[in-house]
Amino acid sequence: MMTAVHPMPRRGRFTAGMLLGLTFLAGAAQASEGGSIKAGREAAQSCAACHGDKGNSNNPAFPSLAGQPAKYIASQLTAYRDGKRENAIMNGQAAGLSDQQIQDIAAYYAAQERKVASTAAEGSVLGADLYHQGRENVAACAACHHSEGHGNQPAGFPALRGLSASYVAQSLKDYRDGKRAAGQAALMTPLAAELTDDEIDALAAHIASLD
Ligand code: HEC
Ligand code: HEC
Repeated sequence: MMTAVHPMPRRGRFTAGMLLGLTFLAGAAQASEGGSIKAGREAAQSCAACHGDKGNSNNPAFPSLAGQPAKYIASQLTAYRDGKRENAIMNGQAAGLSDQQIQDIAAYYAAQERKVASTAAEGSVLGADLYHQGRENVAACAACHHSEGHGNQPAGFPALRGLSASYVAQSLKDYRDGKRAAGQAALMTPLAAELTDDEIDALAAHIASLD
């Protein structure tokens, strides 16, 4: 049983669990340094068609990028480029990006304010419970992703607020099936492997209701 989870400010202190997570990730932690927001804005112009103005998407098929930790964005773009995260659209979009362009784009999106355009009307009681408390073999999502889904910038843990239920459910299944194995996926795979389809749907409904 997890004990109560305290809300974590974006740049606040870490819990013991967070520090545990960080030890896994020492290598990824440098990934965001050296990006130019200005160059990133230029390089990201073509991305707005799907990911929205300044990375705030209105389309449930396309995840918002605004405010995501730079190291998370950089690791995902690198994974798409190198074929370690598979998606037909994004593998193509990332194919021509240099390491520097990836750092620039990551710096640009990380600096944008995340705005949640719309939230799902219905949440899920089961989903909220799992999110905040976890269960045996499933750590509370809030411990890493923040109680309101803001993520954790210094640790590079992505924000979840503003992601659609369909995208969240697909992502959880991809971790469960080992289709997302790059970046810091080792923190997600073991717990996603425990989740049933019903629990995934419940978590996705709860996350889509975060504003
Ligand atoms: C034609 C639509 C389209 C365009 C253009 C596009 N993307 Fe994407 N992007 C997607 C889709 C769809 C996904 C989700 C893919 C998946 O499930 O893996 C995605 C996912 C991502 C992710 C992962 C987000 C996360 O939360 O894990 C990043 C980062 C990203 N895109 C960056 C970019 C960048 C940078 C560009 C421009 C160079 C770009 N995208 C252009 C459709 C697009
Ligand atoms: C120990 C920390 C930790 C815990 C606990 C955790 N996550 Fe994650 N989560 C991460 C990290 C790190 C990533 C990014 C992994 C990567 O690089 O692909 C992530 C990624 C995700 C993503 C993909 C986001 C995107 O933009 O594509 C979703 C969805 C997600 N987590 C949901 C959950 C849910 C639901 C729970 C609870 C059942 C949970 N996480 C528990 C650390 C955690």
